[in-house]
Amino acid sequence: MSEIDWEKLQASAVEAMNRAYAPYSKFPVGVAALTEDGRVVTGCNVENASYGLGLCAECGLVSNLVLGGRSIIRAIYCVDAHGQALSPCGRCRQLLWEHSTPKTQFMTPEGPAPLSDLLPWAFGPDNL
Ligand code: THU
Repeated sequence: MSEIDWEKLQASAVEAMNRAYAPYSKFPVGVAALTEDGRVVTGCNVENASYGLGLCAECGLVSNLVLGGRSIIRAIYCVDAHGQALSPCGRCRQLLWEHSTPKTQFMTPEGPAPLSDLLPWAFGPDNL
């Protein structure tokens, strides 16, 4: 399998972040994932006047992934308004886990790490 092009993934995440709808928090987020079948899938956060209904960027990514044809995620890059690596919230770690493997690489502020580091002892499809 080819090398992960982290720069390209970050650029895709920044492009998605620039489309975020975050008028309430003013905290735009973008995320990009490289799939095993070689595609880059993205998402951005979409907030709502009913604040608690806001959708995280990762929700949009997972939705796009399923809609476009499911594939396992190899690598994920989530960015803030400055294009810096952003750690996903707990709910989003769980959403991403469902479409990843424990070895899926996630870009942390300290460099790539396996998703199993972000969600140790994860609950997933195998537990059912
Ligand atoms: N947010 C995401 O989109 N993903 C995360 O993993 C963390 C938080 C969004 C939710 C909200 O629109 C804004 O960032 C501020 O919390």
